[in-house]
Amino acid sequence: MIIEQLERALIGALESVGVELPEGFQAKVEASADLRFGDYQTNAAMVLAKRVRTNPRELATKVVEAMQIDDLAECSIAGPGFINFTVTMSAWGSAVSSLGKDERLGVPLASPLQTVVLDFSAPNVAKPMHVGHIRSTIIGDSLARIARFLGHTVITDNHIGDWGTQFGMIIHGWKTVLDEQALEADPVTELLRVYRTVNAQCGEDESIREICKQELVKLQGGDADNLKIWERCVELSKQGLQGIYDRLDVQFDYWYGESYYNERLAPLVDDMLEQGVARESEGAICVFFDGEAKLKDKPTIIRKADGGFLYATTDLATIDFRVEEWQADQIWYVVGAPQQLHFQQIFEATRMRGQNPSMHHVAFGSILGEDRKLMKTRSGDNVQLIDVLDEAVERAAKAIEEKNPDLSGEEKDKVASIVGLGAVKFAELSQHRMTDYVFCWDRMLALQGDTAPYLQYSCVRVRSIFSKLDEGVKLDLGELRIEADAEVHLARMLVRFGEVVPSLLDDFRPNLLANYLLELARAFHSFFEACPVLKSEGATQNTRLVLCDLTSQVLVKGLGLLGIEVPERM
Ligand code: ARG
Repeated sequence: MIIEQLERALIGALESVGVELPEGFQAKVEASADLRFGDYQTNAAMVLAKRVRTNPRELATKVVEAMQIDDLAECSIAGPGFINFTVTMSAWGSAVSSLGKDERLGVPLASPLQTVVLDFSAPNVAKPMHVGHIRSTIIGDSLARIARFLGHTVITDNHIGDWGTQFGMIIHGWKTVLDEQALEADPVTELLRVYRTVNAQCGEDESIREICKQELVKLQGGDADNLKIWERCVELSKQGLQGIYDRLDVQFDYWYGESYYNERLAPLVDDMLEQGVARESEGAICVFFDGEAKLKDKPTIIRKADGGFLYATTDLATIDFRVEEWQADQIWYVVGAPQQLHFQQIFEATRMRGQNPSMHHVAFGSILGEDRKLMKTRSGDNVQLIDVLDEAVERAAKAIEEKNPDLSGEEKDKVASIVGLGAVKFAELSQHRMTDYVFCWDRMLALQGDTAPYLQYSCVRVRSIFSKLDEGVKLDLGELRIEADAEVHLARMLVRFGEVVPSLLDDFRPNLLANYLLELARAFHSFFEACPVLKSEGATQNTRLVLCDLTSQVLVKGLGLLGIEVPERM
């Protein structure tokens, strides 16, 4: 990798001019944000000048003289002591050629490799899975793909809410307003109708609220009838959810929902009392975070005065399980920002218990409608995920029909699904996860713009070059000649893939990859305009074809890490 070669040369030069490097010093070379300052730069001279009692520019000058990188890059000094590197054309040529030979397309494995449990999606059973869950599902799935590609052992676990207070209402509804036939035909919709009906009744009638509460108490006490209803309800909901995940191509290794931990809650609370981590307060068992300034006045209850356990109790038991059973080094929770306090509390409580997996709350903001308010349907309900997916595919189908009416019916459906779902995923993943983003159909499906269809179309376009080529043409990775500006820029962007992917997990930001892919596609289109491929010959044509081929490989791989497919044609 060019960056590593530069870093090695930099260390060598620093040592040869007599700088004693501090323990664990890493010579940091980074891609320049502004290409006028070369391809890469380092601030090493500025960081180290004090140690040799000189000023940064002077040290930079000495270092540049001592750098032995004639074939790799030209160096220059800028500002207070930055060293800039402009990579030579021949070095770009060999970098592209190594990319072509590397199955990993320049992306190194992470170090150290870890066992990561990824907790995402996790909708609540028998309640609708709404667009808020789409963020968790799509971001979580992409993080799983990225972490696996970087070599980590990833365990995806769907911690569904299958033991909440909603079951009081559902059981009462099941006994009073359920339509068995409708349940057969479309379980998810019927369960939702039952939930909404009883929810509305509860809003108006205190006595119904009381009945629901009693049903919940019976369920928790092990009542056989209620348990049976609960079981069927969970089963049916899971089937419905599975259908959505299949469409989205999202996979879970486990579905250990909240109920999975029921038996572990009482012993956990006892254990925490014994450890002195929890104590009684007004009949309830609580954890007080006296040692942690930001949680000082925010204790969390783990057992209510009536004996009931809470969301936090289940999450603590879940952490125990994941550490003991799965040897989790890391646990990532992809859950909306409103649950921030909950996660701070359970992370701190876990530390107080002496366990130390590295835990991260990967939070995200809201999805807004085009009126910039929280996205709702016309009747004021939460928009359901399944409806969003259906509409995306429908709209994509229309666009494809216009663009390419020759596709057969079957292929059209397939392409519409790939393009529609890709558009929804990309709209999500190209945003910083904390921003509240506006859900806009036209924008996310546009062929020109920062969209999945634009990237998918770019891939299709690159591939079409190869279909126009004579059968006999074979790519030669041996001697590449990168000469024109547009070639250099495309080469630079291709090499950057190996630099971008490892950085994605630093702050859990797939959007950096999404934006990189857009930049790569733009670099490709400029190259394709400036540098004829089919009309060129010999070594020039070979180099250009290699650039095209790698562009398509990187686009496909990068989109794949976002969970987005590329159609053959569109
Ligand atoms: N079921 C919860 C919700 O929909 C999310 C669960 C997230 N995971 C967890 N371990 N707490 O809000």
